[in-house]
Amino acid sequence: MSDARHVNIVSAEFKADPFPLLARLRAREPVYRTALPDKTPVWLLTRYADVNALFKDERFVKNRRVALTPEQLRSLPWVPPMFRPLERNMLDLDTPDHTRLRSLVHKAFTPSLVERMRGRVQTLADELLDRVAARGEMDLIADYALPLPMTIITEILGVPTADRHKFHKWSQAVVSLGSPNPTVRVIPPVWMFIRYLRRFFKVRRRDPRDDLASALIQAEEEGDKLSEDELLAMVFLLLIAGHETTVNLIGSGVLALLEHPSQLNKLRAEPALMKAAVEELLRYTAPVFMTTERYAREDVALHGATIPRGEMTLGVIGSANRDETVFENPDTLDITREPNRHLSFGQGIHFCLGAPLARMEAQIAVGTLLGRTPDLRLKVSPDALRWRPSMIMRGLDALPVLF
Ligand code: HEM
Repeated sequence: MSDARHVNIVSAEFKADPFPLLARLRAREPVYRTALPDKTPVWLLTRYADVNALFKDERFVKNRRVALTPEQLRSLPWVPPMFRPLERNMLDLDTPDHTRLRSLVHKAFTPSLVERMRGRVQTLADELLDRVAARGEMDLIADYALPLPMTIITEILGVPTADRHKFHKWSQAVVSLGSPNPTVRVIPPVWMFIRYLRRFFKVRRRDPRDDLASALIQAEEEGDKLSEDELLAMVFLLLIAGHETTVNLIGSGVLALLEHPSQLNKLRAEPALMKAAVEELLRYTAPVFMTTERYAREDVALHGATIPRGEMTLGVIGSANRDETVFENPDTLDITREPNRHLSFGQGIHFCLGAPLARMEAQIAVGTLLGRTPDLRLKVSPDALRWRPSMIMRGLDALPVLF
């Protein structure tokens, strides 16, 4: 596996075409040790059964402070104190903290509440396309796939939508990190993000509205349900998870359709296939390409390898979704695939809170786009497209299209 030994899983080059390498890992080295650019060792699990099990395996934890030996804890890189509150986000915590935090927000994301956002998403999709209609071309990411989920999550939370460009700039800095250890480069944007949110909470405390931020602030004021740090971490997580993911589903999903004209034509001819099509785009593109990090709390033996206590493990969702023992012709895009048990939203207690919202946004975004642009096509060759460096996401930098 010499080709894999030095692969930089964060790089744009890896993201451009990771699938042949992942197929080899599934076949020959399903528990594979590599390192992040900052030299942190990381174990990759590439088979469906192993990634699925990782989501539920109690030998792995999210909170690394629980898993690490005292010696490993001492050698952790220094984290600026201002980052500490963000470690209290529910995706980085285990039970019982996770259960308490998740129950505070899950009501805001039930399928029925999400259904009520449907009309707003449709209006927004149409407005975004109206804006570029006369031009006959756009960057599908910046003009459409990004502003749609970004606007919706800011509206749900109640943070000023006009500031969304700022949030995006700040959250990009976080998402493009090549490791869970913050670098000096990321300090200014995260500091500005935190300062912005603390000021916003002050305003909402004085003037509560009918939005999720006000509901969370109320929970914080009631005392033992949510600490101030947890409030900050929750809004930070929701803002980032609410848009840095769906943008990739819409962007990479449209690219996949443009690269498979027969599937695109089938979907145009039968819009009722949209639900199944979005599930297939989720499987095929895996917008969140790796699970977030988990840490072995004891030595874990698997397929002849031993993951030592305290080391980071990632399940490669984009590989599990193409496991030939689970999916027939896994590298084929088939918008009628049934069943389609992809792992794109995870499994277990951290199963994506925003899955119903993301599905609805993508169904409307792709449906509206195809309905309004019968001659949609790429403006550049697929080889010229750049993928964004990131540890866990896989998404395009830009997607220039003509219509
Ligand atoms: C296509 C879009 C999306 C994809 C592919 C996606 C994927 C995922 C995955 C794989 C996880 C689990 C990570 C792990 O266990 O390591 C997750 C968790 C989560 N997602 Fe999403 N997500 C999407 C959209 C959203 C949206 C729109 C929101 C917010 C409104 C959201 C909020 C969250 C939250 C809060 C968690 C953590 C849940 C917990 O810890 O209990 N996601 N997502």
